[in-house]
Amino acid sequence: MEKRAMVFPFHIAVSCLSIIFLFATCVSGSLVFNFYAASCPSAELVVRDTVSSSSSSDPSIPGKLLRLIFHDCFVEGCDASLMLQGNNTEQSDPGNRSVGGFSVIESAKRVLEVLCPGTVSCADIIALAARDAVGIVGGPVIQIPTGRRDGMVSIASNVRPNILDTSFTMDEMINRFSNKGLSLFDLVILSGAHTIGTAHCSSFRDRFQEDSRGKLTLIDKALDSSYAEELMKECPLSASPFVQVNNDPETSMVFDNQYYTNLLTNKGLFQSDSALLSDNRTRKLVEDLANDQDFFFQSWGQSFLKLTSVGVKTGDEGEIRLSCASTNA
Ligand code: HEM
Repeated sequence: MEKRAMVFPFHIAVSCLSIIFLFATCVSGSLVFNFYAASCPSAELVVRDTVSSSSSSDPSIPGKLLRLIFHDCFVEGCDASLMLQGNNTEQSDPGNRSVGGFSVIESAKRVLEVLCPGTVSCADIIALAARDAVGIVGGPVIQIPTGRRDGMVSIASNVRPNILDTSFTMDEMINRFSNKGLSLFDLVILSGAHTIGTAHCSSFRDRFQEDSRGKLTLIDKALDSSYAEELMKECPLSASPFVQVNNDPETSMVFDNQYYTNLLTNKGLFQSDSALLSDNRTRKLVEDLANDQDFFFQSWGQSFLKLTSVGVKTGDEGEIRLSCASTNA
């Protein structure tokens, strides 16, 4: 028992149950808590400081970082494939055009390359940054395991078949999530990310229509009409394509359970949000989450851990990139 603990975390195939070690604990036979305890002790601190300082100067950063991890993990797994620049990489798919936060990841990476060269993966920085972003805006502060390695593949055509669209039915959403090993429960919990951040008008504009005199016709009856009026004012036909509105009309800067309360009052911004209330399989869970923030926070911890473990590369898979925007080769 003691001997096994001594070789950990290098000996990652060893049974998780048999290991209790001061700094590292096996969680899934691959990722480990405090993976950088010996190789780069300040890794998590550097990421937290970077996220914290960039969020103070730009409050849109937490939302961006939280969306970034989702779009990274659903295509090729959580391997920073979304950070790779170049012709036809994942970034060039229209679904990723409004994803941001890359510069925050790069700036943490630059510091870490000085402190511990070639050690901390971009994939881990993305996961840690999303975790910290949630904590910074009042959400649960959780521990997540690390040890992800960076992927070498990033292809635009892999994006569409893996990410989700606001027009999806519940069955389509459940299907995409289950392809990643995520449950219906995870879908409802992780959608709670829409308690922060913003969206462009084009993401929900088809839920109502505005005639030439500015009168509203509701297309999607699942949307509260007074909320639709507010959205129409923020997104008139003449609005520039860059206009954005808050995902959560009530407490957009705070990670809380308000998203679920919004759903109960038909104020889910996307059709895919409203679907969580109208579907019999998820309505009760939405109600429970709206009534109990502790339950949301606890569940968030579990589902976020699953999301950040999707398709991870560990051991001798992938590489540790020197710059997140390009592979080493
Ligand atoms: C379940 C299906 C989902 C759909 C269809 C969806 C769709 C969208 C869309 C269309 C936007 C607005 C993009 C824009 O117009 O700029 C958005 C924003 C956002 N999404 Fe989702 N999303 C989903 C799930 C998730 C999940 C699981 C997470 C994270 C765990 C997430 C985190 C975010 C965040 C934080 C924003 C705000 C981004 C910002 O402020 O820049 N979403 N989502």
